[in-house]
Amino acid sequence: MKFFIDTANLDQIKEAQALGVLDGVTTNPSLMAKERITGKESITNHYRNICKIVDGDVSAEVIGTSFDEMIREGEELASLHPQIVVKVPMIKDGVKAVKYFSEKGIKTNCTLIFSSGQALLAAKAGATYVSPFIGRLDDISTDGLLLIEEIRRIYDNYNYKTDILAASVRHTMHIINCAKIGADVMTGPLSAIEGLLKHPLTDNGLKKFLEDAKSMKV
Ligand code: E4P
Repeated sequence: MKFFIDTANLDQIKEAQALGVLDGVTTNPSLMAKERITGKESITNHYRNICKIVDGDVSAEVIGTSFDEMIREGEELASLHPQIVVKVPMIKDGVKAVKYFSEKGIKTNCTLIFSSGQALLAAKAGATYVSPFIGRLDDISTDGLLLIEEIRRIYDNYNYKTDILAASVRHTMHIINCAKIGADVMTGPLSAIEGLLKHPLTDNGLKKFLEDAKSMKV
């Protein structure tokens, strides 16, 4: 399973990259706003800076909601760097835009997926990635992981090439469960990735090894 980090924070992206397990980055307008990135030039520079840090796909989301706006913005974003993936919302014009970009060889991430029907539509339109938001489904007492399972079955039935990018990952168990189900990619915060490191028996075991190593007088 590929690991993407879900942030526009350059320090966190650098930290995840330094761990040696990062395959890409996802951003969205809320994450960009959190970093106080304003104005076209800053936005452009920020995406380019992210692409310099990580050697993998970087999702940049369009803001427009009409087909023409999404095409114009998406083409601009895609021209910034070969690693840019155009993130398009799951709305009617978004599906048309995904089809358009896929025919032009521009990678897409169809976002705000909350049902297997939406995921099927995105795959048929040729999306590179589909982003089911599991955390936000959990928030409304719906099983986000069940959605990943359903999409996995549908894509496997018809051999769709679209990658399932489990998004809105909130914690470490989400990552483990997504891996069990067979999500192709997960995107989450650095804390969820670092949570994979932790086990009290590892910490206790290392403490004892280091204590015993003192008697070795190295
Ligand atoms: C996906 O690409 C989104 O950026 C993201 O995963 C949304 O996560 P949230 O529900 O934690 O905002």
